[in-house]
Amino acid sequence: MADLSTSFLGIRSPNPFWLASAPPTDKEYNVQRAFEQGWGGVVWKTLGEGDPVVNVNGPRYGAIHGPDRRLLGLNNIELITDRSLDTNLEEIARVKRNWPDRAMIVSLMVPCEEDSWQRILKMVDQTGADGVELNFGCPHGMSERGMGSAVGQVPEYIEMVARWCKQHSRLPVIVKLTPNITDIRYPARAAKRGGADAVSLINTISSIVSIDLDHFAPTPTIDGKGSHGGYCGPAVKPIALNMVAEIARDPETWGLPMSGIGGITTWRDAAEFIALGCGTVQVCTAAMTYGFKVVREMTSGLSEWMDEKGYRTIEDFRGRAAPNVTDWQYLNLAYVTKARIDQDLCISCGRCHIACEDTSHQAITNMVDGRRRFEVIDEECVGCNLCVNVCPVENCITMERIAGVDPRTGKPIPDGYSNWTIHPNNPMRRETMQFAPEPVRLPDAAE
Ligand SMILES: Cc1cc2nc3c(=O)[nH]c(=O)nc-3n(C[C@H](O)[C@H](O)[C@H](O)COP(=O)(O)O)c2cc1C
Ligand code: SF4
Ligand code: SF4
Repeated sequence: MADLSTSFLGIRSPNPFWLASAPPTDKEYNVQRAFEQGWGGVVWKTLGEGDPVVNVNGPRYGAIHGPDRRLLGLNNIELITDRSLDTNLEEIARVKRNWPDRAMIVSLMVPCEEDSWQRILKMVDQTGADGVELNFGCPHGMSERGMGSAVGQVPEYIEMVARWCKQHSRLPVIVKLTPNITDIRYPARAAKRGGADAVSLINTISSIVSIDLDHFAPTPTIDGKGSHGGYCGPAVKPIALNMVAEIARDPETWGLPMSGIGGITTWRDAAEFIALGCGTVQVCTAAMTYGFKVVREMTSGLSEWMDEKGYRTIEDFRGRAAPNVTDWQYLNLAYVTKARIDQDLCISCGRCHIACEDTSHQAITNMVDGRRRFEVIDEECVGCNLCVNVCPVENCITMERIAGVDPRTGKPIPDGYSNWTIHPNNPMRRETMQFAPEPVRLPDAAE
């Protein structure tokens, strides 16, 4: 049976599934029960200094639902912990003592002053926690006070604070990145320059999920007003994966350990983050939607998949997808595909025809010999796969690679590989074909 245990920055946990810093990790009562259900570790809800923050006393969540009312995206305007620092520290120490085999990371957010960081790090050191995560991510409330994403959006601040933390603590330092930035590589590079041991990403995305058309105010609405919140849940996974991939393949951050966060709901989501190089994954919305027990399906699913594939440990497949993320210009233009419809599976709904007819390349019939029938016209099909994505029947439409002459262009398809760098239409074309830089080497085992 697959071994799910991980060692991330030397922090051991029985599996890669950690609860992200958020309500599920806000108190001993929660974390205790999370560990009973099998979570490998937690990042404690972010601690601050001084008097605890005050949350709104009305609704703090908004949501986007699918047609079946399944939650796709969650928006929140919650701040960091609103419980006292002493209470949190006491509970952290007790939980760590009771659960020595689980990872205990403490998330921190204090003003951008060295003294503040030094003071809180000293207190965390005494709890026996395994590491700290610097919350440079919250996009609401705290950012207006010069913390959270207000720090995470300025690489110089990230570098400076990471350096202070490394100076004033013996614990591994993880910098949690905000996605509310144009290019995630800059904050990641800054974290590395500051000496951070790892980055975690993503925190929530600035968002307004909806406008209440009766009150003409954003939701959640507090006495007629709303403010932007932080978006998370399944809807943000694609954004998170892209950002993780960017860091994984940036020569300046190759090998920088990463903890992946954003929309992880199933073992498959987790495996995708790990395949891009993440050493652990963190989960918030899935636990808030389905409860702590959801980890059981995550661990059993991942374990079964690893057994099926012959992966003994997480390291056996970690980072394997990173070298296959490339720039558009290196994609193979000699890879020509056509859609193929399985007539036995087709239920004649007509969606593929409408999509292709109205917005693609008029390459699917709706009538053949006076009968309702959906067939691909190879002479028109550009292989875009829009029809695959709109078809309600899985595997009814598939894409097939063709060789020889492309019936659409009438031109021979080059053998093997050819990319944009030498294409005649490329005004910047080169004499000889350029290839993607050497594949990203697998990150070092995150010990
Ligand atoms: C209600 C709520 C509160 C959160 N509070 C924090 C926090 O205090 N510190 C932090 O670093 N992230 C916080 N987050 C962000 C999560 O840790 C996580 O980065 C984000 O939700 C993305 O993961 P998910 O898609 O699994 O929810 C919070 C998220 C939610 C929904
Ligand atoms: S792959 Fe694109 S062009 Fe071809 S049939 Fe499907 S939608 Fe039309
Ligand atoms: S969308 Fe799929 S099921 Fe519907 S007509 Fe096209 S191929 Fe058939």
